[in-house]
Amino acid sequence: MTHFDEALFGINQTKLLKRNSSQMNISIVGTGYVGLVSGVCLAEKGHKITCVDLDHEKVNAINNGESPIYEKDLESLLQKHVGKNLNASINLEEAIHQTSLTMICVGTPFKGDAIDLSYVRNCASEIGKILSRKSHYHTIIVKSTVVPGTTEECVLPALEENSGKSAGKEFGVGMNPEFLKEGNAIQDFMNPDRIILGGIDDKTRNELEQVYESFDHIPKLATNCRTAEMIKYASNSLLATMISFANELGNLCSQTPEVDIKEVMRGVHLDERLSPKDDQGKKIRPGFLNYLEAGCGFGGSCFPKDVKALVSHGKKSGENMRILSAVLETNALQPKRVIQLLQKFFPNLQGKKIAVLGLAFKPETDDIRESPAIPVISDLLKEDAHIFAFDPAAEKSMENCFSREQITYEATLNDAIKGKDAAIIMTRWKEFEIIPELIHQMNKNLILIDGRRLIDEESVPNYDGIGIGPKVD
Ligand code: UGA
Repeated sequence: MTHFDEALFGINQTKLLKRNSSQMNISIVGTGYVGLVSGVCLAEKGHKITCVDLDHEKVNAINNGESPIYEKDLESLLQKHVGKNLNASINLEEAIHQTSLTMICVGTPFKGDAIDLSYVRNCASEIGKILSRKSHYHTIIVKSTVVPGTTEECVLPALEENSGKSAGKEFGVGMNPEFLKEGNAIQDFMNPDRIILGGIDDKTRNELEQVYESFDHIPKLATNCRTAEMIKYASNSLLATMISFANELGNLCSQTPEVDIKEVMRGVHLDERLSPKDDQGKKIRPGFLNYLEAGCGFGGSCFPKDVKALVSHGKKSGENMRILSAVLETNALQPKRVIQLLQKFFPNLQGKKIAVLGLAFKPETDDIRESPAIPVISDLLKEDAHIFAFDPAAEKSMENCFSREQITYEATLNDAIKGKDAAIIMTRWKEFEIIPELIHQMNKNLILIDGRRLIDEESVPNYDGIGIGPKVD
């Protein structure tokens, strides 16, 4: 094991010996993002993992050491364990019989006005049928993000009905949410900030405790299933609220002479309660301050879906969820702000050549789900502008949304800037930091609209960004 491995995975030889003594046989249903990352990481922690999926192609790819999704370090870790601590299979029956604990990691897409629980319910029913033929005690853990109550009101009854057995007696049921950030998921799993162990009883929580036994010095919170479910939603909703708060203030700063949201937030962040001092008296910048910056809105497969699901769950429970409804409303309007900034320079956008820089919902990923770039491109197309899109990783994904007939995909950042009337930064890619240099070399007339406040205002001739108030002469 290299020093890199030790630093990344936080383990040493002593712990390796220890964890072998508590190796568990675990099956994981669903080899999407959460299921596969959990599978390879738990294999790295010494457990024996069977990943189950209905999709033959995915199962074959995993068994060949190929990850069906892109995530930093995932494929190399998969290759390290496949055929040893980890195997993939389409045979759920066999997997349940050969393991003592099953994690449900299937999708919960947002449909209509709530999350669609059909995959979770079907999965629980199938597991239930198999449990009727299994004589040993088994533990079923929900890892998919589900609204509070789902594990006990949907999963548990499906297991009981289909197995003819009783939860708490012949099998255990628990909820163990994940807190993985795309692009950093392996790190987040191996070095988590917390582990939430939700269960219907102590026996289930103890089983979960055993799964995570080798995660020393990590705060573990043992609780009931509904609280575990709520913690996941509360965590994402808080971060989304901070973003919309910063964006709302940014929008107000845009109307306020001589005020810039960037400076305002710098002042806010200096509050010792937000950035405390370390032992040497040096200010620490906690990661969550990254969510208190104004920009063109949040996206991804989690924040928009989770906040919507919590609002809808709240309304069904008789709570209006005013703050979180406003968080979504602010976020839905935020991409329009960059168009409004552009229209200050070009009231009529017809025929204008506009570069959209950044298509992914955040840097270091090719994921475009709920990316603010999508409504921006749609709106610009409605105005009959010519769109030239560039992203270091997400071009292919965006082609499913906008064809090559609708917009031009540029191969390089240079190409995207050359000869355009304006460019809009939509994603905080590190690669974009050289934009001022490119503008000076190739296109001094370019209007730069900064949706992420990445570029220094003074470094380019024609600049505007989210949250900059009008200048007073
Ligand atoms: C998020 C959470 O951060 C994870 O803790 C959680 O486990 C995960 O959802 C999940 O539920 O699975 P992720 O969606 O990968 O992770 O993305 P983040 O890095 O948190 O960024 C989310 C969005 O917020 C991005 O669109 C980003 O551009 C945006 N953002 C972030 C802003 O608009 N402004 C900011 O100041 C910060």
